[in-house]
Amino acid sequence: MSLLWTSEALVAAMDGRPLGPMPEGISGISIDSRSLQPGDAFFAIKGEAMDGHDFATAAIKAGAGVLVVAEGKLPSLGRLTAPIIVVEDVLVALEKLGVAARTRSQAKIIAVTGSAGKTTTKEALRHVLSAVGNVHASAQSFNNQWGVPLTLARMPDDCDYAVFEIGMNHPDEIRPLVKMVRPHVAIVTMIAAAHLGFFRNLDEIAKAKAEIFEGLEPDGAAVLNRDDARFKLLDKMAHAAGVEHVYGFGENARSTFKLTKCELHADHSDIAARIGGHDMIARIGAPGRHMVQNVLAVLGAAQLVGADLDKVALALVDLSAERGRGKRHILRHSGGPITLIDESYNANPASMGAAMALLNATPVTGEGRRIAVLGDMLELGDHSAKLHAALADLIVGTGTQTIFLGGPEMRALAEALPGDIKTEYRAGVEELKPVLLAALKPGDVVMIKSSKGIGFAKLVDALLGKFPAQSTANSQS
Ligand SMILES: Nc1ncnc2c1ncn2[C@@H]1O[C@H](COP(=O)(O)OP(=O)(O)OP(=O)(O)O)[C@@H](O)[C@H]1O
Ligand SMILES: [Mg+2]
Repeated sequence: MSLLWTSEALVAAMDGRPLGPMPEGISGISIDSRSLQPGDAFFAIKGEAMDGHDFATAAIKAGAGVLVVAEGKLPSLGRLTAPIIVVEDVLVALEKLGVAARTRSQAKIIAVTGSAGKTTTKEALRHVLSAVGNVHASAQSFNNQWGVPLTLARMPDDCDYAVFEIGMNHPDEIRPLVKMVRPHVAIVTMIAAAHLGFFRNLDEIAKAKAEIFEGLEPDGAAVLNRDDARFKLLDKMAHAAGVEHVYGFGENARSTFKLTKCELHADHSDIAARIGGHDMIARIGAPGRHMVQNVLAVLGAAQLVGADLDKVALALVDLSAERGRGKRHILRHSGGPITLIDESYNANPASMGAAMALLNATPVTGEGRRIAVLGDMLELGDHSAKLHAALADLIVGTGTQTIFLGGPEMRALAEALPGDIKTEYRAGVEELKPVLLAALKPGDVVMIKSSKGIGFAKLVDALLGKFPAQSTANSQS
């Protein structure tokens, strides 16, 4: 078992009080007893709904090597049969450990924020940098006030590269997180209406994202979407934060990481790009124009951290769309295959655009139709009805003729769509499921997209249940 932290270093970093004999060290860090691995330290974090202290016994059963608990909770925990480190506040202790991990690390650090594409970009970086060194990266979308320190604290001392996803719902959330991460490169993927409920407009979202520049290492670089309407604002904010190296990526002629050729196919893209003076071509194994845009940021960041670009470019061919983020399934139907595009993980106006483009680029067979199954985009606050109705223009533009809609907010879109588009609206996912299952025909391409909270992943499961998958065009789960 390789040690992530010795107990001595763990106690010192957190300024904790050890109770009982400590093990030599811990092999990992967990805040969830269900996914805890034997030998992990269990941090009893108090979240909005749950308190980790209530799962101390479960964590011990799962094999926790050490428990990190709050002084105030100690009396109510009873007798625990595992070594304990007592701290004043468990989240603060995790942050301190994260800071210690950053201090001991020699890795090149990349941080990714933006309104859409953070996880996609982070996973693409993890994938390509793995071709040139040891990489540590955030799990899932662990991008918030506990996800970021957890990812830091989990960073092994010998990794060559580390990639952090940093997200926010409000102003002032990114700043303290990025100051712990201290990246060498900060990427802003794009600015769009996501979590707009807490903001007046897109400029304010851009300003909150710009907090990421405040934590850059001296001489660090900002990598910005040159094709995004808020490039200039972000560029200005980066310079105001004292960043000297600001680079753009995109098809804009002034991009430092510039797309020079782009061929989109149903299951991959072929690109040519000029990356800081280096001409290159690459095949990207995951489809979609939005993926190409993310890859330009990946290539730019990879060059900035000194990775071998030829190896990085070669690795792009094995990229694959992930579950809920564009993963494709070819479903078996007695009359011929149905293509399912699973975009059920999240939705906002920008990612709706990306997903509709993906649907549009996927060929149907025989009498097949392109079908969009769309659910509510959450967290848009007062702008919600307007932004849902505005999807009508997007849909008309792509020529999709068959639309299934579900969720209270989607009613606004159902009312805004022109009469010649065949539209089925239902209040929720359960009501929509039978209608969708009955409607599918051989040759169809169906794209399912909604915010996660609306639960359209259930529609994906229902389709996979009724029509077993023949193959997965992109087979990464
Ligand atoms: N550069 C991009 N521009 C627009 N849409 C994108 C881009 N990259 C990805 N998307 C779309 O956004 C969806 C979600 O992507 P991803 O999970 O990477 O976003 P995220 O920023 O990590 O979201 P979250 O805030 O939920 O963590 C994808 O399935 C795709 O439809
Ligand atoms: Mg994410």
